[in-house]
Amino acid sequence: MEIVICPKSETAEWLTAKLISDRMKSKPDITLGLATGRTMEHVYAKLIAEKDDFSRVKTFNLDEYIGLDREHPQSYWRYMIEKLFAHVNIDLSNVHVPDGCAEDVKEASKQYELAIKNAGGIDVQLLGIGRTGHIGFNEPQSSFASRTRDKVLTQTTREQNKSMFEGDLDAVPERAITMGVGTILEARELILLATGKEKAKIIAQALEGPISSMVSASAVQIHPLCKIILDEDAASELTQADYHRRSFAIDPEWDAYRDLVMKS
Ligand code: F6R
Repeated sequence: MEIVICPKSETAEWLTAKLISDRMKSKPDITLGLATGRTMEHVYAKLIAEKDDFSRVKTFNLDEYIGLDREHPQSYWRYMIEKLFAHVNIDLSNVHVPDGCAEDVKEASKQYELAIKNAGGIDVQLLGIGRTGHIGFNEPQSSFASRTRDKVLTQTTREQNKSMFEGDLDAVPERAITMGVGTILEARELILLATGKEKAKIIAQALEGPISSMVSASAVQIHPLCKIILDEDAASELTQADYHRRSFAIDPEWDAYRDLVMKS
């Protein structure tokens, strides 16, 4: 687990976008795992500015609300179209978002897993983190072996996301279809981005606390290739922050990115 602490949220978003862009340059037919939410909006805006070639890129989104069809303004399909896909040359037949309106969610989940497998697995999975410590919509006590399936959302998560439903809690769906923690852990590389003070406590629990299903994001601790990109606010409760700053300043792996971060 490598943790990079950036001076500002904008720098953290740039660094995340740059990492993805560089992975795409080195593997033009890359399979990306994508996330939605407020944090990622800024990453996608910056990724668009990189003007990369998406023509051979395949994508799999982490999750979708159950009951919202693709055209619903708050569906994650629509989010992805608006925030990223409409602005790049991706072939929409290479785009996968779980079907929130599937008649048989179990079967749709099985097919989603199969599609990931048939694509050769996910090369890089982008992750945000929710207030409950969820990755995807894996709420507390999701099994680390879980696969794509439907999940009831906690009230904390529904509250967290109600701003995207004009503040109307009743409009936030009760359930979602989400990749499992086990599915996420199979991606070859994970990049988790968190910004803002409201993420500080859960980030400290996830990265420095015990590995526990009570905090799904703590599962990233057992992934062999995982980068955590934070701004100062999100990193503010980490006890090991100074070590991570020093490590970023010295580790040759970050040579190409150091100026971007330090000079921001
Ligand atoms: C959504 C997803 C979620 C979000 C998390 C943080 O696809 O995977 O885990 O990343 O809820 O959301 P924001 O960025 O809105 O705080």
